[in-house]
Amino acid sequence: MQEKSTLLSEIKRRRTFAIISHPDAGKTTLTEKLLLYGGAIQLAGSVRARQNQRRAASDWMELEQKRGISITSTALEFPYAGCQINLLDTPGHQDFSEDTYRTLFAADAAVMLLDSAKGVEPQTLKLFAVCRQRGFPILTFINKMDRPGRDPFDLLDEVEKVLGIAAVPLNWPVGSGSDFKGVYETRERQLHLFDRVEHGARRAPVRVANPSDPALAAVIGQDLQATLLDDLELLNAGTDFDMARFLRGQLSPVFFGSAVTNFGVQLFLDRFVELAPPPDDRPLLDGAPYPVDEPFSGFIFKIQANMDPAHRDRIAFMRICSGRFERAMAVTHCPTGKPVRLSQAHRLFGQERIPVEEAFAGDIIGLVNPGVFSLGDSVSAGPSVAFEPIPRFAPERFALLRMANPTQRKPFVKGLEQLSEEGAIQLLFKQAGDFREAILAAIGPLQFDVVQFRLVSEYGVETHIEPLSYSCARWLREVPDALDGSYGTRLVYDSGGHPVLLFESDYWRDRFAQQNKSIALFATHREAELSRT
Ligand code: G4P
Repeated sequence: MQEKSTLLSEIKRRRTFAIISHPDAGKTTLTEKLLLYGGAIQLAGSVRARQNQRRAASDWMELEQKRGISITSTALEFPYAGCQINLLDTPGHQDFSEDTYRTLFAADAAVMLLDSAKGVEPQTLKLFAVCRQRGFPILTFINKMDRPGRDPFDLLDEVEKVLGIAAVPLNWPVGSGSDFKGVYETRERQLHLFDRVEHGARRAPVRVANPSDPALAAVIGQDLQATLLDDLELLNAGTDFDMARFLRGQLSPVFFGSAVTNFGVQLFLDRFVELAPPPDDRPLLDGAPYPVDEPFSGFIFKIQANMDPAHRDRIAFMRICSGRFERAMAVTHCPTGKPVRLSQAHRLFGQERIPVEEAFAGDIIGLVNPGVFSLGDSVSAGPSVAFEPIPRFAPERFALLRMANPTQRKPFVKGLEQLSEEGAIQLLFKQAGDFREAILAAIGPLQFDVVQFRLVSEYGVETHIEPLSYSCARWLREVPDALDGSYGTRLVYDSGGHPVLLFESDYWRDRFAQQNKSIALFATHREAELSRT
């Protein structure tokens, strides 16, 4: 009994979320500031300043550093106000959106980060759509208020119209750009005055004032005070915050701030821990919820090879769905029914690995993967479970990859197998399993660059790549006897030997479908399999 209530109180402390944004909105900056306020780092900016040594703690891959883009996802954790916050870092670049989709699958909430000058951008829109499907809560942080931006009412309007979600401000900005004076907090009904802090290395000092105090005019100016009072009247007439709608993903609380100067970060975090939900029962394959206080269970949402050149191993990231994890515990690998001992479990902070003694539902642990785990696999210390499947997406870009030096076949095959196991790319073959002419299939072309780069840096294999003109892949249930009207079409095989048709365009796919009505086409192998039952 005592044990159960300790378990539940530990689980209730967890807040597991991811940030979704368009590149450049300030995700890295906000992440760093959340870590600063959570006490996980002492001096934000020091992390950036030591760029050559370490870059941002969540930003470790050499290619990312060269290109200044965030590709890989890492899980960061820090305590705040009695809660344990697990922040799943997602790649910002659209070519890695599948990785992001998988990460969102392991989260219980998302923070949508917008640039106040740009509002809702294309990548935000795409990722928002995935959150919407998950039906989980989304908080909005409108960033860069210290820069000239758009009218805040306009921004709220855009969120409501473009995303179709109610937007309810829980704080309200006073001025913007060089005139940015602070934010009004709607619950406490107090104005938090902004002091520009150089680079926001430390926590921002905060002064609090009453918005209708006549003395305030001397601090923020008469005009801004009058505008604030007008705005507040308008806001009071707006929608109220409704927790139930928020939890269903129908309403988003909105916060304004400036991550680079730390302003608004603490106000945001204080409300975040109150609003964001703790881990809940997780749906199984058949839709039934699996209680969070059942014995330990979890699923693999990400696999990453060679995270640390010194270790040269693969890490499988697991989201714990129920119960308590203990170091070296014996569990069942549900897809095979085989027993596995989880002896090497880590938390990862940038490149640092910290052994995990215990963890609870909602936490993310990195398991050294001895080839047992694949994406989506469940493990359990209790009954065998299968959680709802992680979505896979049909690739849209294809390229032929050949090794520059044919004597390197072994590391070439190993590298490609491991990278495809991570889900970074899919592998297709002209002849099943023939690596001499492997076809890479991906969502975006940057994934090809990453594969080539990693093959050199991690496996020592130089390659040549030749883009192919296909733009669409469809899985088949079986190899057809004959293909009619197959112009612009090619039959290939995935790494499991299953037949796949490549099409040069949606036009050729549709035409093919019309001419071959007996051949069913599926966006993924999984869909083709499910259609058999
Ligand atoms: P991302 O991960 O979403 O791609 O964005 P990142 O945090 O790298 O931020 C993109 C740029 O926006 C950075 O500037 C960063 O300093 C700036 N930025 C982030 N938050 C704020 C903010 O609240 N206000 C202002 N004014 N700028 C902000 P950069 O010039 O690209 O890099 P750096 O020279 O600052 O390192």
